[in-house]
Amino acid sequence: MKTVGFVGWRGMVGSVLLQRMQEENDFKNINPIFLSTSQPGKVGPIISGTIPTVLEDAYNIEILKSLNIIITCQGGEYTKKMFYTLRNSGWKGYWIDAASTLRMKDDTVIVLDPVNKHIIEKGINKGVNTFIGGNCTVSLMLMALGGLFVSNLIEWISVSTYQAASGSGANYMLELLRQMGALYSVVSKEINDSSVTPLCIEKKVTQFVRSKDFPIEFFNVPLAGSLIPWIDVDIGSGQSKEEWKAQEEANKILGFKRKILIDGTAVRIGSLRCHSQSFVIKLKQDISLVDIEEILLNHNQWVRVIPNNIKNTVHELTPTAVTGKLIIPVGRLRKLSLGNKYLSAFSIGDQLLWGAAEPLRRILKLLVS
Ligand code: HSE
Repeated sequence: MKTVGFVGWRGMVGSVLLQRMQEENDFKNINPIFLSTSQPGKVGPIISGTIPTVLEDAYNIEILKSLNIIITCQGGEYTKKMFYTLRNSGWKGYWIDAASTLRMKDDTVIVLDPVNKHIIEKGINKGVNTFIGGNCTVSLMLMALGGLFVSNLIEWISVSTYQAASGSGANYMLELLRQMGALYSVVSKEINDSSVTPLCIEKKVTQFVRSKDFPIEFFNVPLAGSLIPWIDVDIGSGQSKEEWKAQEEANKILGFKRKILIDGTAVRIGSLRCHSQSFVIKLKQDISLVDIEEILLNHNQWVRVIPNNIKNTVHELTPTAVTGKLIIPVGRLRKLSLGNKYLSAFSIGDQLLWGAAEPLRRILKLLVS
């Protein structure tokens, strides 16, 4: 039985990973060791079917070297600090990582097995031992549109994203909720008082969100009642790093030498943990919507095609409908008035499930078996 070390299992991605592993009974096939960067010596998590153990020190190289597999959701700083030291010490075990640090390195594989199982298997056979989860938005795009990608039907994609606060981390998601609460509190009396006009209420809210009393410790700016059309750092070309990743990571995951062009604007919005994306897809040929739907559905078992009508769309194609689920709904499918090769699509996915934890859980399972 393989000994698997878990680092960063307490954060949001790590917690979803442990939850999914318990749901799928994955712990019965491994000997889990839980490590901590801050609380070694304390008692580890209670996992069904195992006895809680004492947390090991996640910075102890000797302990790390004794593991067959390490799976980390601890973040890029930990990876930078420990990965090369560990490899340089001669450790040849499997390193599975949620952080982006090693994603674009030549000797790593970005894992999203419903899309690139052949590349993962080829990598394992060639001796690759570092497997990285993709950027959440990229993985969710490929899960949604995988059929069109692998059928070589896409010439280019322009995408606008609507990304949840959880993508920035737990503190940000909590701050969004604090902001929402603060918005309500400042006018809670007035909104039930018919003598106060809606515009007076709006004015009070607007003044408040612009004041120093509004909670913006993490985002630096208001998100509730607003949006932020910039995610991640500026790479210097006017493009954000999040926008850059769409094309670069997607093509690496797919193993395409001749890159499909993908670009657009990444936007943070006030949803909790579902990323949504609106696509304009230039197809290589004019194929019917019926065929497109079939191609999408045949790609993987999680895609759902949502009929392009009001009722299905507003009930099934929203973060509210998708949160906590593994399904990947794709809707608003129609040919744009730009021409028959221009397809519109809108998709949603839980960024902590297929966007982060699920591809890691599945590569772990594959490596263990
Ligand atoms: N960059 C993503 C986001 C995180 O900010 O939403 C998921 O990889």
